[in-house]
Amino acid sequence: MAITLARATFGLVVFQLSMLSAFAIYNDSIWVRDVSYDDLSSLDADNASFAVKTELQCARSCQGNTSCNSFFYNSVTKQCRLQRYVFVSAANSTVSDTGSRYYRLMSGSCPLEEGYIIDRLTSTCYRPVKSPALMWEDAESVCGAAGGSLAVLEPIERLDFLYNFFIRNREFYSYKRAYMIGMSRPTGMWDSPLPGGIPDHVWVNGQPVDFMATAPYWKPGAPDSGNSGNIGIMRHGKGFLLDDAPNTQNRRYVCQKVYRE
Ligand SMILES: *[C@@H]1O[C@H](CO)[C@@H](O)[C@H](O)[C@H]1NC(C)=O
Ligand SMILES: *[C@@H]1O[C@H](CO)[C@@H](O)[C@H](O)[C@H]1NC(C)=O
Ligand SMILES: *[C@@H]1O[C@H](CO)[C@@H](O)[C@H](O)[C@H]1NC(C)=O
Ligand SMILES: *[C@@H]1O[C@H](CO)[C@@H](O)[C@H](O)[C@H]1NC(C)=O
Repeated sequence: MAITLARATFGLVVFQLSMLSAFAIYNDSIWVRDVSYDDLSSLDADNASFAVKTELQCARSCQGNTSCNSFFYNSVTKQCRLQRYVFVSAANSTVSDTGSRYYRLMSGSCPLEEGYIIDRLTSTCYRPVKSPALMWEDAESVCGAAGGSLAVLEPIERLDFLYNFFIRNREFYSYKRAYMIGMSRPTGMWDSPLPGGIPDHVWVNGQPVDFMATAPYWKPGAPDSGNSGNIGIMRHGKGFLLDDAPNTQNRRYVCQKVYRE
């Protein structure tokens, strides 16, 4: 998919990709329509539904709200619904909504065709990778080579975003498959006794994991893999809640990069 991004335009530039149409709004980013969502809406409860005159007005409202990452615009009822979370391909729950169109962001810094999803609130984009599955260190190298790292999910808004993305998108559902994130026991401490029996996990940026702040997002009882709980994962079979695990098999993983508007 070769796309030239229009820069610094507030004009409406509509063009058609194979399954997507888009209009340029600003700088290096574009709102892209996913036509597989035509006439569908999400069940996400929000109270940000409001009347607009045009699709562009809806896009501008989303753009003006940093916690908005996508939107539904209904071309019949002219209602605009801003969304915090992002839907890709098959969502786990949609409802029929005639006239509805769904838009999400793509950007030169985090290309949609490479599978990035964008969280403007934390200026981060994420890329869940299913294949090839890798060992944790190799996954971190791959993410590094792409200009980022494995996903660092604090502050909590980051964890909230990725968790909610996973539970909303069925393509990531696979009972046995886990996604590795940028959390591990400190370098040199793998498989060694937990200091004072207390988990000592850190994010790949060196920041210690705040177990209090992240508590609602951990599998009940976790971290519970003791000395061998070397890496952090999120698994559909555990409701995409955080868990610690040994690094003894190739797994799926989530890369992140900085998102620049
Ligand atoms: C576009 O980029 C400029 C300079 O980087 C920035 O000041 C401006 O806020 C950006 N505009 C939008 C709408 O993001
Ligand atoms: C709805 O909007 C009100 C007022 O802006 C806000 O206090 C409330 O938290 C919002 N509710 C939801 C579910 O977003
Ligand atoms: C900003 O967007 C979010 C959805 O991403 C929505 O819940 C919230 O109400 C919006 N805030 C304003 C002030 O429109
Ligand atoms: C489907 O998504 C909703 C949020 O839209 C979530 O609350 C629910 O847990 C998800 N269902 C499953 C089976 O994960």
